Amino acid sequence: MRAVVPVRPAPGRAHPPPPALATPRAPHAACTPAAYPPPAPPVRMGPMASYRRDLAVRAAVAQGLLTPESPVVALLDVAGIRASAAALTSAFAAVTRGGVLHAFAVKACPLVPVLRLLADAGIGAEVASPGELALARAAGLPPSRTVLDSPAKTPAELREALALGIAVNADNLQELARIDALVASAPTASPLGLRVNPQVGAGSIGALSTATATSKFGVALRDEGAREAVVRAYLDRPWLTRLHTHTGSQGVPLTLMAEGVRAVYELAEEINAKAGRPQVDTLDIGGGLPVNFASEEETPTYADHARLLAATVPGLFDGRYRLVTEFGRSLLAKHGTVLARVEYTKTSGGRPIAVTHAGVQLATRTVYAPEAWPLRILAYDSEGRPRSGRVTVQDVAGPACFAGDLLAAGRALPLLHPGDVVAVPDTGAYAFAHHYAYNSLPRPAVHGFALADDGAVSFATVRAAQTPAEIVAEAGGAHADALVR
Ligand SMILES: Cc1ncc(COP(=O)(O)O)c(C=O)c1O
Repeated sequence: MRAVVPVRPAPGRAHPPPPALATPRAPHAACTPAAYPPPAPPVRMGPMASYRRDLAVRAAVAQGLLTPESPVVALLDVAGIRASAAALTSAFAAVTRGGVLHAFAVKACPLVPVLRLLADAGIGAEVASPGELALARAAGLPPSRTVLDSPAKTPAELREALALGIAVNADNLQELARIDALVASAPTASPLGLRVNPQVGAGSIGALSTATATSKFGVALRDEGAREAVVRAYLDRPWLTRLHTHTGSQGVPLTLMAEGVRAVYELAEEINAKAGRPQVDTLDIGGGLPVNFASEEETPTYADHARLLAATVPGLFDGRYRLVTEFGRSLLAKHGTVLARVEYTKTSGGRPIAVTHAGVQLATRTVYAPEAWPLRILAYDSEGRPRSGRVTVQDVAGPACFAGDLLAAGRALPLLHPGDVVAVPDTGAYAFAHHYAYNSLPRPAVHGFALADDGAVSFATVRAAQTPAEIVAEAGGAHADALVR
């Protein structure tokens, strides 16, 4: 990390000496105390994630990142992100003889320093909008490590990507016709592919299931005449060398993902047989590895996924094909934590409620669809020490002005008090980086953290907190008279 601000416990605030790194203490015990899982194995780079997080919470309070005036902040565990990137790389290296580009799905955590960190760990970028492309470029990702997918690319976006030499996956045959015209008008170094929908079915979350019979993504391969049209499209375009699929994300079983990949592999084999040459040389198999939101355990693992893929589609790994992957959630989710102060506590209808500063603005999916997106809550006292005390069923509410703004309803936790800190782990993807501006609540600051060998925590600013002036500017402040002229 550059621009690291070393943060050690402030004088006068007793910070317990860190235990030896090889013998991390038991994980935070505030959440679901009866069913707390055994400690997860330590990540290779150091102490276990929960131990690192506990130290970071304490340091965030001690060093003034979380105060009564700035009552919410998000943290990213740099060692955890690096460990996940390394696990992804080694899992696929262990099963394939071909080359692999792991392209992080920028949508999962669209923060430039995160993309730079991942690039430093050998991970590229999958972008799905001009904004995401701009973020990847700002992070220094070269075109050769960038892939553009999206279902609604404009001619201008396509032209820019082809001029840069970025890999592009067309979503449909109309888009392919647009690319025909662009390829004819100017030479491009972009590897080009087509997304297909293997129509293998849905997972448990409909909104994230992209391989349903009627999904909006890709060419629906099992529709009448579609397969023949796709094969013809390749035979007519010698420059079309990639096939792309993404079966879905959280909630999609690994076996279904493997079936999707098998379908696309079989299509590649058919095209290459008909072309009489290995025209399709790269399969982009998307992302989607689910994340365990119920405990510290990182499961399923990349190794589980890669082994299942290799067993289901052995021909894909024998060296004839290059692979592209597009994992997002599984690289970041476990390494992000929101910290929020408890402003007030009350009871309503006999139910204790802690009113905090973390809610719908940071965990939008959880608030609107709590069954599909449950999050753990960890309780700390006002100094950032794991809170002990009587476990009580209570609600953990956010600051927004609607009744459903709850991060957890009826959750058994040590009874929270005003000034306490709640931590919301597993929010590194599709959460605090995806601010929802309800009530004009500000985007909180995001800090990366790292531990020195002696347990001292240093923080680096990833994103500054949004100011009231910035909120006004984004809300048309420069055009205040626009409607009364
Ligand atoms: C095309 C594509 N690739 C990759 C991803 C990343 O999925 P995940 O974050 O579940 O790994 C998505 C998610 O929507 C996607 O649409």
